[in-house]
Amino acid sequence: MIQECLIHENRHLKGRFYILTLKDSQIAEKAQPGQFLHIQVQSSIQPLLRRPFSIYRLRDSFVDILYEVIGEGTHILSLRSKGEYINCHGPLGNCFSDDLSGKHPVLVGGGIGIAPLLFFGERLLEKSHTMELILGYRSEDDVIGLEDFNQSGMNVEVTTNDGSYGYKGFVTDLLKDQLHKDHKVFACGPIPMLKAVSDLCSQHEVPCDVSIHNFMGCGFGVCLGCVFPSHKGYQRVCKDGPVFNASHLIF
Ligand SMILES: Cc1cc2nc3c(=O)[nH]c(=O)nc-3n(C[C@H](O)[C@H](O)[C@H](O)COP(=O)(O)OP(=O)(O)OC[C@H]3O[C@@H](n4cnc5c(N)ncnc54)[C@H](O)[C@@H]3O)c2cc1C
Ligand code: FES
Repeated sequence: MIQECLIHENRHLKGRFYILTLKDSQIAEKAQPGQFLHIQVQSSIQPLLRRPFSIYRLRDSFVDILYEVIGEGTHILSLRSKGEYINCHGPLGNCFSDDLSGKHPVLVGGGIGIAPLLFFGERLLEKSHTMELILGYRSEDDVIGLEDFNQSGMNVEVTTNDGSYGYKGFVTDLLKDQLHKDHKVFACGPIPMLKAVSDLCSQHEVPCDVSIHNFMGCGFGVCLGCVFPSHKGYQRVCKDGPVFNASHLIF
């Protein structure tokens, strides 16, 4: 589905972080946790490619995207205003499965990789699942989203690399003390974090699904610009993912 979506709000949170709220009942009806929108940040030739963003939260017909300004595309996005229309393709990709097969969910996010976990955590709560939630950031300046997770009724443990907020260390430092065979881990964040989480889970024989944030071209499976190596050959993050069983991937 490609359509022009109304920008309801484009709110600056702090530092490089914003929440874009789209009013679009069709996307809100279809979207599943873990899926993404491929957004044409402005209607000109530059930048040529759309940019992928996870769906952060749904509220009735409102769709929230939590984003970090890191380059040209996200900078242009941050300048877009309420009342304008923006071209979106999606929701695209697969989703986090809420079929836990009796396992207890542990959600682990790093940096902007926390984005798909709010929607997924809310879906788990709707299905009466409790969960553990560990969110890691570089430092206090990067700590975002906590109020949203707390307001939704999720208890968050926070780590920062420099100890300026919460526990000093990496998400895996907390995770390794908690992991149990009855757990299933769902993680999203930078690739080195996902590798560390995946290794830890495999040592403890805990199933782990990861959502990969890779570079993308077309966003719908044709250009192979997003591939990630797996034991079954290269996987397309946009079409086969972005959520994968971590044990299938080669980090
Ligand atoms: C499935 C998926 C979901 C995503 N969800 C979100 C989200 O919810 N919120 C959010 O803020 N971002 C998300 N991203 C990442 C986001 O798409 C990129 O940050 C964005 O495309 C950067 O565009 P840009 O034009 O601002 O940066 P560019 O000018 O394209 O790049 C700026 C710098 O960042 C690097 N870079 C760009 N993209 C990535 C990437 N994916 N991984 C690592 N380095 C990169 C470039 O090499 C360059 O150094 C997601 C990516 C994927 C694949
Ligand atoms: S971005 Fe084109 S195949 Fe994934």
